[in-house]
Amino acid sequence: MHETRVPTSVILLVFLMSTLEVPTRAELQLLGQPGNMTVMLDRRLKLPCKHSGEGKIDVKWYHNNEEMPRRGQNYKITHNGRLKFTQVKVIDRGKYHCKVENEYKERVLSRVANLVVHAPAEVIDKHQLTRPRHVRVGAYARLSCQAAGIPPPRIEWRKNGELVSIIKIM
Ligand SMILES: *[C@@H]1O[C@H](CO)[C@@H](O)[C@H](O)[C@H]1NC(C)=O
Repeated sequence: MHETRVPTSVILLVFLMSTLEVPTRAELQLLGQPGNMTVMLDRRLKLPCKHSGEGKIDVKWYHNNEEMPRRGQNYKITHNGRLKFTQVKVIDRGKYHCKVENEYKERVLSRVANLVVHAPAEVIDKHQLTRPRHVRVGAYARLSCQAAGIPPPRIEWRKNGELVSIIKIM
C-alpha cells in the first residue's frame, strides 16, 4: 500500500502564506487608557481612551460594567472618546473601562480602573457643640461631635488645646 503524504514543509508554507497576508487597514489599538485614581469631591476629572485605527471608531464607557449614556448630569463623553467629569460626586466612584469598536466590528477593551472619591472631613451640626452649657458641679455633662467625610474622619477631643483621652472624657 502506498500513501501520499503532504510534506510538512508544504503545509508550513501554506500556513505562512495565509498569515503573511498584507493588512488592508491600520490596526485598531488603545494608546491611552484609564488608571486607578483618587480624587476629591467636586473636582474635575478626565479619563482617557486614546485610540488609533481606520474608519469610523466608536468609544463606549462603562461604570461598574453598565454602559454610560454619552452625556450625564456631571459628565460627557467627548468626540475623541474621553470621559470628562465637571464635578465628581461620591456616586461616581467605582470601576471604569472603555471599549473602542470600529466599523468592521473589531473591538478593544481597556483595563478596568478604580475611581475613589474622597470627601473633606467636616463637623456636622457645629452649633450642637458650641452652644454654652451650664452644669452643676458633680453633674453629668455630655458633649457630642458628629463628623462626616470619606474616608471617615478620626475625632479628637481637646480641652484648652490639650488632647483629652477617651478615658478622661468618660
Ligand atoms: C487598581 O485598583 C484595584 C482595586 O482597588 C486593584 O486591585 C488593582 O491592583 C489596582 N491596579 C493598579 C495598576 O494599581
